[in-house]
Amino acid sequence: MSKTILITGVTGQDGSYLAKLMLERGDKVVGGVRRTSSDNTWRLAELGVLDDVELIDLDIAEITNILRTIERVKPDEIYNLAAQSFVRTSFDHPIYTADIDALGPARFLEVVRTVNPTIRFYQASTSEMYGKAAETPQSERTPFHPRSPYAVSKLYAHWITINYRESYGLHACCGILFNHESPLRGREFVTRKITAGLAQVKYGQLKTLAFGNLDAKRDWGFAGEYVDGIRRILQAPQASDYVLATGHAESVRRFIELAAPHFGFALEWRGAGPQEIGVDTKSGRTLIEIDPSHYRPAEVDALVGAAQKAEHELGWRAQVTLPDLVAMMAEADERRVRDGKPLN
Ligand code: NAP
Ligand code: GDD
Repeated sequence: MSKTILITGVTGQDGSYLAKLMLERGDKVVGGVRRTSSDNTWRLAELGVLDDVELIDLDIAEITNILRTIERVKPDEIYNLAAQSFVRTSFDHPIYTADIDALGPARFLEVVRTVNPTIRFYQASTSEMYGKAAETPQSERTPFHPRSPYAVSKLYAHWITINYRESYGLHACCGILFNHESPLRGREFVTRKITAGLAQVKYGQLKTLAFGNLDAKRDWGFAGEYVDGIRRILQAPQASDYVLATGHAESVRRFIELAAPHFGFALEWRGAGPQEIGVDTKSGRTLIEIDPSHYRPAEVDALVGAAQKAEHELGWRAQVTLPDLVAMMAEADERRVRDGKPLN
């Protein structure tokens, strides 16, 4: 039977892929968009679903906005993907980040409890909550040690979601997702910064790219298949929380090494610390530099997830490997720059 799905953050990477997936399944998709002065629906357009999603004005900072939306839309399921999602920015805007990332979900839960407690609610939790990780790999049972205002805010959201499930019996679930990327990833995140940046260097639009900590390790998967995991989490008969991850981690340095050949570069690292550079040995040009302003006040050194619970209970497993993901992103950015299309 067709359902009505409300997705917050529908203009983001995951929101766009999830909207497409739900539409393909025959559901009605209502997407929340916050008021901005410029159009940011390019991801929905690129996936060919812009005309099929009902876009509504929804800022999760505003509880009355949430209340009226839920009363009017009458969703069967809510996927709360909206967030100030950039970790580095959260150090400069900790209070704002808490308002959106911690209190935003709390506002939703309170409205769901009041208006219609049968609505299913999904909260976008994050592997960042493990932070200074107590064990490797990280599973649903690993203790949390958040290392940024973003992660602290998301940890509140995680526990308030569980609390409403335990206190009021809401069907409220958290997906603890490890990093997932795609050609639709925002350009401030390191993977897309690498592929879009190398494409720009290749076509002479940029001279060099500057990065922070090249040795941070992340468990990078493909967003296009993680949204199916998100959907499955909310379909399980018993509400619970699940890790979604590939189980493999690589460094930022390795991601750059995998991406460079796609743009015809033969990369070699020279020097160390803030003086380290990445040189294209074919041309002798410096492609990569270190800019310490990209270092974070507290870093998350390495994350790798154990997604066995999702595999056993939901039948979900990450399939796309890191080299395939890098190729997909590199090809998309090469095409955009070569054809004079906006990188967004
Ligand atoms: P994203 O691309 O940054 O998208 C975030 C979305 O939230 C955008 O649509 C943004 O709108 C919207 N938003 C921000 N503030 C809002 C507000 N006050 N009211 C309403 N909407 C607002 O993030 P993503 O990568 O798709 O991630 C989706 C969710 O999963 C986020 O909650 C993120 O923290 C979480 N998560 C992501 C990952 C990952 O690796 N991608 C991993 C774990 C968890 P604008 O378009 O107007 O900016
Ligand atoms: N963004 C960025 N820019 N990161 C850099 C850079 C740079 O120039 N240089 C090194 N890094 C390192 C960061 O220090 C971090 O260790 C790693 O690259 C990944 O950074 P991001 O791509 O910004 O992602 P993130 O892991 O901090 O956060 C993303 O994943 C989380 C899930 O673990 C975001 O999508 C979060 O919203 C999400 O919760």
